[in-house]
Parts: sequence; C-alpha cells; structure tokens
Amino acid sequence: MNVIKVKNYDEMSEKAAEFIVDRIHTIENPVLGLATGSTPEGLYQRIIKKYEQNEVSFKDVTTFNLDEYVGLEKNDPNSYYYFMNEKLFRHVDIEMDRVRVPNGVAEDLENECREHERAIEQAGGVDVQVLGIGGNGHIGFNEPGTPFSSKTHVVDLDQSTIQANARFFKSIDEVPTQAVSMGIETIMNSKEILLLVSGEAKADAMAKLLNGEVSEDFPASILKQHDNVTVIVDEAALTIAEGK
Ligand code: F6R
Repeated sequence: MNVIKVKNYDEMSEKAAEFIVDRIHTIENPVLGLATGSTPEGLYQRIIKKYEQNEVSFKDVTTFNLDEYVGLEKNDPNSYYYFMNEKLFRHVDIEMDRVRVPNGVAEDLENECREHERAIEQAGGVDVQVLGIGGNGHIGFNEPGTPFSSKTHVVDLDQSTIQANARFFKSIDEVPTQAVSMGIETIMNSKEILLLVSGEAKADAMAKLLNGEVSEDFPASILKQHDNVTVIVDEAALTIAEGK
C-alpha cells in the first residue's frame, strides 16, 4: 500500500480530488467505484469545484456505488442513491444511465446483487475504487467475518455500524438493518483502490490496518494483498499507529 500522510481532512480531500481527476484524464472511458459516508464528502465537493472550473468532465465516466441500504427508495434522503445525487451527480455532467447504485428496494435482492456484478463486468471492471473504512474495519458494508471471496451480497449490518450511522436518522430504530454491498472480492477485483481515512475515530482501525495481520476479522486488511492501493490518511487517524 502506498500511504500518503496529510495534515487534515481538507488536505486529504484535495489530494483525493487531484487523484481522481488525474485518473479521469488518463483512463479511456473510466469506471469509478464510489463510496458514501462522511469521508468522501470533501472529495466530492472538490471534484464539483474542478468541474465548475472546466478542469474535468464526467461525460465518459461510468460509476458503480459500493452499497445501498435495503428498504430505502431512491428518493429517501437517507438512501445512498439520494446522497450521491445530492453530493455529486446532479452537480456534474455525468450521464445518469452510466450511474449504478444497488437498488435496495428490488423485489428480488439476490438477483439485484447478480445484476450489480454483471453490470460491473460489462463495463470492463472498476478502474478506481474509492473506499472509506469503518471503525470495525469494514469496507463497503462487508462486516468482520465476511469471506474474502464474497461478491455483491445482502448483508446484516453490525450493531456498531448501525450505531455509527444513526447520526443521519431521526432515531436508531429507523436505521436499516440490512444493506446490499459489493463483496470483498468485487472490491479486490478493482484495478486500483483509493482508501481515504480521516479523524481520531479511525485511528484504531488505521493502526490495525498498518500493523495487524490479514484476517477476515478485519476486512480492510485484505487491501494489503492488492498491488495498487493508495491510502490518503490524515494525522488524527495516525495517532495510534504512530504511537502519538
Ligand atoms: C459507504 C461505505 C462504508 C463507509 C464507512 C466509513 O459507502 O461503504 O464502508 O465508507 O462506513 O463511513 P464514514 O466515512 O461515514 O466514516
């Protein structure tokens, strides 16, 4: 893993935006894998700014999102489709038929998982996958214990993940308990991975990632076996790893 240390969240977001814009410029018909959550919000804001300044276009870009809550419609403000539309898609010139967020209200969720895999394959695979990391080491919604060989699947969310995400909902009872998530193998099949890590709440996970073993008990550890991973991490997230 190529680890780039930065001062803070803003610097992480700027570096990440430069990284993604560079890949959009250098890859023909780029396919991006995208994440939601607090971590990539600054990245998306900066990408929008670069688009407004004519530094990048999304005309030839295809995107696949990592995950979606089961049971939330596209127009639900807590759905990841809604998040992506609000935070990125509606502000840039992306063709909406080149965007795929798993459908969390599909009648047949197993079939939806297969469709997500099929669509990724048809697009030629993901060129660059953006990831955040859960405090428990999850990537996508692949919670500890998920087989490394998993493809897109329906997952039961960990209690710790439900609690962490409750901040976006009126009450914890409203947080969905399941999600559709790209699997770990799906993520590992990406040609390149960009992992963003910021803040003290991620310091423990970051220390385990850098110093721990590769184990299904800590899903992100598998990234050490991918040959093209860049981690952009800020000082606050490195406090435990660096013993500060
Ligand atoms: C989001 C996702 C999750 C988040 C992780 C960190 O699509 O797949 O793995 O990246 O839960 O979330 P934040 O960034 O909110 O700390």
